Amino acid sequence: MEKVKTYIEGFDKRMNGGIPRGNVVLIIGEPGTMKSSLAYSILHNNALKNKEVGTYVTLEQSRKGLLRHLKSMGFNIDAVGDKISVVDLSLIRRKLEKLGEHTWLHIFKSYAKNLKENMDYTLLVIDSLQVLGLLAGFERPRNELFHFFGWLKDLEVTTFIISEQPSNTMEFGKYGEDFLGDGIIHLKMEKVDDINIQRRIRCVKMRETKHSFNYYTLLFQNGVFKATKVIHD
Ligand SMILES: Nc1ncnc2c1ncn2[C@@H]1O[C@H](COP(=O)(O)OP(=O)(O)OP(=O)(O)O)[C@@H](O)[C@H]1O
Ligand SMILES: [Mg+2]
Repeated sequence: MEKVKTYIEGFDKRMNGGIPRGNVVLIIGEPGTMKSSLAYSILHNNALKNKEVGTYVTLEQSRKGLLRHLKSMGFNIDAVGDKISVVDLSLIRRKLEKLGEHTWLHIFKSYAKNLKENMDYTLLVIDSLQVLGLLAGFERPRNELFHFFGWLKDLEVTTFIISEQPSNTMEFGKYGEDFLGDGIIHLKMEKVDDINIQRRIRCVKMRETKHSFNYYTLLFQNGVFKATKVIHD
């Protein structure tokens, strides 16, 4: 089976080589757990190492703001400029508000499909599920997400959907998206003592994959994400 590597050092081997191509994977985490940076890093590394084409749809943060953040983290965005499109569909969102909420998902799909025909991207990030749901005005979220995830599969891309987890909850999905998705990667902050907080990463589920269920310490050093064993004192 073909796998998409995350290029998070130490993590792919714990997922038996990576993410099965074509999966819809949720990247779930509390505010500031580096969901956006990690998702971009997957696109960035696959573009650099495999010349794979990716699209990052930002609904939450402006394109400019996101690029500024990524540059400040040390990503050389220009090096993959011809491979990665960062599109700010919040701009469309403002123009479309007049049309009513229900047309939004339709336009999102046409846009994504068009871009697929032009760029032939194989990796897609949607940031975030909550804003997508808000814009699309889901009335029966589980039903609509079921169809949307199916639509993503037909698009023949591997999709990473960023999902915001409210602080102090262990829930992975309000609408059953945790059951609908093929995979879940959970990011969290862990209090290790009175003073120190560490980032953690864990693969909660990944269909068709024998993976570790454990939490690993997530580090970001010299522009590279790393998952290392949690050291207990
Ligand atoms: N240059 C940097 N190097 C390392 N870490 C950084 C740097 N700049 C910001 N950060 C960390 O990255 C975090 C933001 O990352 P990111 O935007 O990817 O998180 P997020 O989970 O998507 O956030 P949000 O919930 O706001 O969408 C900041 O809260 C900060 O802790
Ligand atoms: Mg974010």
